[in-house]
Amino acid sequence: MDKLPVIGNPTPPAPQEDLGMTPQELEDGIKRLKKERNAVILAHYYQESEIQDLADFVGDSLQLSQAAAKTQADVIVFCGVHFMAETAKILNPTKIVVVPDLEAGCSLADGCPAPVFKKWLEQYPGHTVVSYINCSADVKALSDVICTSSNAVKIVKALGDQKIVFAPDRHLGAFVAKQANRPDLVFWQGTCIVHETFSEKRLLELMAKNPDAEVIAHPECHEGILRHANHIASTSGLIDYAKKSPKQTFIVATEAGILHRMQQAAPGKTLIAAPPEDETCACNLCPHMRRNTLEKLYLCMRDLSPQVDVPEATRVRALAPIQRMLEMSA
Ligand code: 13P
Ligand code: SF4
Repeated sequence: MDKLPVIGNPTPPAPQEDLGMTPQELEDGIKRLKKERNAVILAHYYQESEIQDLADFVGDSLQLSQAAAKTQADVIVFCGVHFMAETAKILNPTKIVVVPDLEAGCSLADGCPAPVFKKWLEQYPGHTVVSYINCSADVKALSDVICTSSNAVKIVKALGDQKIVFAPDRHLGAFVAKQANRPDLVFWQGTCIVHETFSEKRLLELMAKNPDAEVIAHPECHEGILRHANHIASTSGLIDYAKKSPKQTFIVATEAGILHRMQQAAPGKTLIAAPPEDETCACNLCPHMRRNTLEKLYLCMRDLSPQVDVPEATRVRALAPIQRMLEMSA
């Protein structure tokens, strides 16, 4: 495979206009702009809690694409990362889609550049290309069907005995291969910088200290974590599990922004964030998601900028596999 770009923390945020507004003034301004612009705010569970609390809808990647597909708003304000907003734009070409920070990327999407992916696919003629939604519009345009962590197993099973290439997350791919009993799946070797960071050794220490806790994990985690998980699911699936399980304590192996909604859904339960390898870093927080702030949210709604755009030819090609996913998930 051609050499991939180095994946690391994103470039530092650009200097911001000093608004001199209090958090309350920002909140009031965002609510006012929402009405004035007929805007809907969609947010992922990994966003800062104050952003989640202002959103009209908070969900996992599938739920957010479903919400984007049916919104009547004129403006979609997407608080998440770029590929999510791009998916909303692909589904809504006539609507304005704005994001707080255009540089909020994703290591999985950035680690699968379309030209390299296209060349790599030439090795696998006759394969159905299943791409995780965490990829660019250009990669979606090269795919047959998109999936998210909540429907990947179902979609691969529905493809019967077709030969399959799965991209770009190899950990999710390995999980799907196991669940769907498809050891022959071909994987693109991408990973998420956040889910890659969890330490099996430190998880075992935490489990020993909390013997009654259940471990719940996102399938983007590596096998060293997944092998200890009592439940593996998408972000919404993990929240739902913590709410319904009779257990009291959960060790949660995914981006720590999820704890806000999980705690609201499961009040009184004890949620412990799974530990990263390096105890001195906040590596269980996605640096891309954290680029979005209340100030930038206010500004993008005030200025209707930055907007996410997708060239029409790419959009049309990327739309088909997304629609296929939505039909297969209905
Ligand atoms: P889900 O919310 O679909 O589980 O995805 C998690 C994720 O990593 C989003 O980038
Ligand atoms: Fe991408 Fe990982 Fe951040 Fe999700 S948590 S947006 S997969 S880098």
